Amino acid sequence: MKVLNIGSLNYDYVYQVNHIVREGETILSDDMQTFCGGKGLNQSIALAKAGIKVFHAGLVGEEGTLLLDTCKEFGVDTSLIQRIAGKSGHTIIQVDKKAQNSILLFGGANQSLTREMIESWMAQFSAGDLLLLQNEVNELPFIIETASQQELFIALNPSPFNEKLLACDLSKVSLFLLNEIEGEQISGEKDANRMLAVLGERYPEAKVILTLGERGSIYYERNEMIQQGIFPAKAVDTTAAGDTFTGYFIASMIEGLLPQRCLEIASYASSLAVSRMGAVSSIPMRSEVIL
Ligand code: RIB
Repeated sequence: MKVLNIGSLNYDYVYQVNHIVREGETILSDDMQTFCGGKGLNQSIALAKAGIKVFHAGLVGEEGTLLLDTCKEFGVDTSLIQRIAGKSGHTIIQVDKKAQNSILLFGGANQSLTREMIESWMAQFSAGDLLLLQNEVNELPFIIETASQQELFIALNPSPFNEKLLACDLSKVSLFLLNEIEGEQISGEKDANRMLAVLGERYPEAKVILTLGERGSIYYERNEMIQQGIFPAKAVDTTAAGDTFTGYFIASMIEGLLPQRCLEIASYASSLAVSRMGAVSSIPMRSEVIL
């Protein structure tokens, strides 16, 4: 099975703040760092660090060399990443004293995918291969449709949730990985059990992984529910914790591990990620995920 991730690549400009800036307010940040990130890139690197060969497809702008080099450094196949005129995607991330963040996302090159590019990338994959997606690139409905026609296994992290996701035929998704905010946005329910019931009814063939922050995570498939607690960690920055969870869950699933073990490994990997600053820099290597 080959693994393709069509996803975003961003520069993350991360500012330490006392509190997240309020409307109309100007505040001072006394520490700022730049990291490579983007949900797509983070998840590809999490897969690669977990030991899975992954092809990343996407776009960077003229100043995208570091994004490409970072993918290569961790063994991600970058042959399907193209460079275009203009700027790469970037984010402005504020991290407060409690390690909570807020993210302003500029799409840049990530929003310039064309159908021709997508078709040429996907022509290199076939039935049974796994396609991982998030919602930081354009043309998601077309990608899902094409992947379904090719009988790829589609894993979707519907993040960030917005109206563009509503244009997708989500019944073609085989695996959803989402947090409780996205769960509420998709299902209209606040309670985790009710979210899962709605998703299970709407997408009966899909597996759903719901992460609940400090309350752990749940695997749900055809009324079977498996729960996993968290591994306590001193949080310094939660950026990319969800991406780490996604990468490690999928890597463990590809290895053929049982869902409970996949949850356990993914939870432990993301507990290590929250205890470190940044996106890519916070994702642990497989050799660190020992339990
Ligand atoms: O999930 C974390 C990522 O979301 C960050 O790296 C940032 O780029 C945003 O896309």
